[in-house]
Amino acid sequence: MENNSIIRIKNLTKSFPMGKTQFTALRNINLILGKGEFTGLIGPSGSGKTTLLNIVGSLDSPTSGEAWVLDHSIGKLTAKQAAQLRKEKLGFIFQSYNLLAVHTVFENVEFPLLLLKMGASERKKMVMDALEWLGLTDKVKSKPPQLSGGECQRVAIARAMVKKPSLVLADEPTANLDAANSHHILKTMETLNRELKTTFLFATHDEKVIGYLHRKIYLLDGKVDRDERKVNSEK
Ligand SMILES: Nc1ncnc2c1ncn2[C@@H]1O[C@H](COP(=O)(O)OP(=O)(O)O)[C@@H](O)[C@H]1O
Ligand SMILES: [Mg+2]
Repeated sequence: MENNSIIRIKNLTKSFPMGKTQFTALRNINLILGKGEFTGLIGPSGSGKTTLLNIVGSLDSPTSGEAWVLDHSIGKLTAKQAAQLRKEKLGFIFQSYNLLAVHTVFENVEFPLLLLKMGASERKKMVMDALEWLGLTDKVKSKPPQLSGGECQRVAIARAMVKKPSLVLADEPTANLDAANSHHILKTMETLNRELKTTFLFATHDEKVIGYLHRKIYLLDGKVDRDERKVNSEK
């Protein structure tokens, strides 16, 4: 893998069976993402954003071509190796927060750490750190139904960030948030990107998100239409 790259996609195509034919959701995608990027896949509904994010997240594999993520060729991983990659190196944030309603904020954020080998006191410290990054320390004993949408999404971000993953994949993370909460979580993610050097890849069509991105990859009908970097980004 090239020195500073975390994702490398070469001639990637993804088709889904549709009756007797195939529907091609991604066509001939070529992309390289470096470590520490804050990048978004942007495009209208149906343009292939989630499909590409799912392949990068090892939840699906290419039909042809290759996707290398953190030195793993996604199409060649066994189910067990893919699960290992997700549990150790990747964080996921979805538009529906997918929190466990009957568990506390603490337990929801602790969950990904239970899959890793570590003692209870180390786990507790990591959960409390993540809750502090997201400004949720006073909600540690609350349960999701007692929280606002913005607070739930912050819990979901804490859960994605708690193990300090190399790469966070965020699919329409602001879809259920108002403007104030959207800006709050984006500023928080930008800070985590800067301070923890976590790489972020978003899928979005929300202008509020787009304004924060350092690099914008526009998808149209499953193809990369434009790839723009913010100039003079103060880094
Ligand atoms: N599992 C699937 N089976 C068949 N078609 C799919 C599947 N997943 C996605 N698609 C199709 O692929 C296209 C891209 O979908 P998606 O990646 O979800 O787009 P986006 O996230 O940009 O809205 C859509 O036309 C969608 O209907
Ligand atoms: Mg989508």
